[in-house]
Amino acid sequence: MSTPSRISLTRFLIEQQRDHSRINSDLRLLIEVVARACKRISIAVGKGALGGVLGSAGTENVQGETQKKLDVLSNEILLEANEWGGHLAALASEEMDDPHPIPHRYPKGEYLLVFDPLDGSSNIDVNISVGTIFSVLRCPEGVRDPDERAFLQPGSRQVAAGYAVYGSSTVLVLTFGDGVHVFTLDREQGSFILSAANVKIPEDTGEFAINMSNLRHWEAPMRRYIEELLAGKTGPRGRDFNMRWVASMVADVHRILTRGGIFIYPRDLKDASKPGKLRLMYEANPMAMIVEQAGGAATTGRERILDIVPTRLHQRVPVFLGSKNEVERATAYHREADA
Ligand code: AHG
Ligand code: MN
Ligand code: MN
Repeated sequence: MSTPSRISLTRFLIEQQRDHSRINSDLRLLIEVVARACKRISIAVGKGALGGVLGSAGTENVQGETQKKLDVLSNEILLEANEWGGHLAALASEEMDDPHPIPHRYPKGEYLLVFDPLDGSSNIDVNISVGTIFSVLRCPEGVRDPDERAFLQPGSRQVAAGYAVYGSSTVLVLTFGDGVHVFTLDREQGSFILSAANVKIPEDTGEFAINMSNLRHWEAPMRRYIEELLAGKTGPRGRDFNMRWVASMVADVHRILTRGGIFIYPRDLKDASKPGKLRLMYEANPMAMIVEQAGGAATTGRERILDIVPTRLHQRVPVFLGSKNEVERATAYHREADA
């Protein structure tokens, strides 16, 4: 991990465009706009009770979840910031039933943006880290008015992915498919500064992240994997494992990006209509791209997340991601059980 001195996000993006031809000016603008929106969300989150942003909005999203005020506000901030720049063909979000078209008064661009405006909503009111997750796709050739179908592309086609964590500091993590870079918000200057370039997730780890309260609903291979971890030194793994669960995917994934670990939200048998809790298009796919780009792995326990051909905008998938050797082991247990 190298730490160059004071490279702003703006400079980083311009150099990606000019010196490495990795992005064009529209994608550069898109990332700048998303980063600006994340700054606004970070400010709103930071005001807490004084900003009147805590608590429920009294509405439900398409997934039947009660929306928090910050879910709604963050969604509005991202929409408003991204509508007019001419870089997008359409947007979609956890908090909107259907894709949001670009209003006719604005020009349209070649990209599609999908986001989870506020991840970890259950943590807002208790002052624990929350974040924003986003994924960028290309609008299919010849599609003028993109609807849901335009978004249903496998994660391997993402041209960029990222997340922000609003924690003890605000960080923005980015990939264009060529490594993963971390920017930290300098609150006095109001700009994101590169704080770690080309981060890599250690292949081995002694730390796992899972909501253990669902254990009784898990499939057999999933129980086997966790029971072996819990057995520690005297069990089949011959070592002790530690556990962390923030219940904000952004925070759990950021810890794994920083020091390794495996994050699991498995399929459970509680509700057959929900094959997992997390959403493919705006949680699993962007995080899978970031984790793979950092040398880790991301599967559903059976297949690579980035290979899934989506069938619905809000579809859910089981998620296993992080340190490669643990993800591969947990995946092997599922495949063995299926065979
Ligand atoms: P969101 O707040 O966007 O709905 O996402 C919450 C997700 C994810 O961030 C976290 O890993 C998981 O839900 C926590 O689930 P449990 O409450 O079941 O632990
Ligand atoms: Mn989420
Ligand atoms: Mn959310």
